[in-house]
Amino acid sequence: MKGIILAGGLATRLRPLTYVTNKHLLPIYDKPMIYYPIQAMKKAGITDVLISTSPDHAGDFAELLKDGSEFGLKFYYSIQSNPKGGIANAIGLAENYARGEKILVILGDNIFGFNLKDDVEEFKKKKGGALIYGVRITEGDLRQYGIIEIDEKNNVISIEEKPETPKSNIVQIGIYMYDERVFDFIKKLKPSKRGELEITDLNNLYLKEGQLSCKIIDWWIDAGTSHDELLRANNLVYEKIKNYQL
Ligand code: DAU
Repeated sequence: MKGIILAGGLATRLRPLTYVTNKHLLPIYDKPMIYYPIQAMKKAGITDVLISTSPDHAGDFAELLKDGSEFGLKFYYSIQSNPKGGIANAIGLAENYARGEKILVILGDNIFGFNLKDDVEEFKKKKGGALIYGVRITEGDLRQYGIIEIDEKNNVISIEEKPETPKSNIVQIGIYMYDERVFDFIKKLKPSKRGELEITDLNNLYLKEGQLSCKIIDWWIDAGTSHDELLRANNLVYEKIKNYQL
């Protein structure tokens, strides 16, 4: 199974911090933000990781992360020319890299402690489909996320991207596993109203086929949504590291 970390986009919500650098290079406690999804890939047992980023900061990533050997991993790089292409557009660029294998995608601004190793092993054996993850949140604005509606057996009923009226308090977080058909599904997607190929539209194609599973985990933070969340991520990571929970 191949890993993909998405570190493109414009990060307009974090300006002025992101005028001259990429959001995923900003510090979260003692490390650049992108180190956290890299560590999650490593803990999951993934060895090949593609870092997808925008042309303007690609050199900074290569300088910082090099070939991955310092992490015990092998890094590949991909350039998303249109920084507003959307998450699914960035994944679509990885078709040749994936070479028909299943993929684990982690958004570069997502931080979590959950170890994906068992799920990766199970997913590798599965015939096909996609697996997404959710977290129940009790504070914050649900309208800035993808929202998952599930039944009592954790079956997904719906996923809506940034809904005005959220149907649940379960946020679709930035961890996704896909079978080899993902690239064909991405080719079917049309840009949303905001002009992006949406990850939620991709996941909805799997849902339509009855091929989407969902797992709820305890905690996660999207460090890239606002200055407040960036600060919260720093404090949370500090606490978790001090308490040996991360
Ligand atoms: O963090 C979870 C949320 O992430 C989900 O709940 C939403 O369903 C999902 O759409 C996404 O929403 P965001 O508004 O937070 O996405 P954002 O634009 O911040 O991008 C998330 C990551 O993906 C970020 O690390 C940058 C990268 N990205 C984003 C876009 C739009 C790319 O690499 N290329 C892109 O074109």
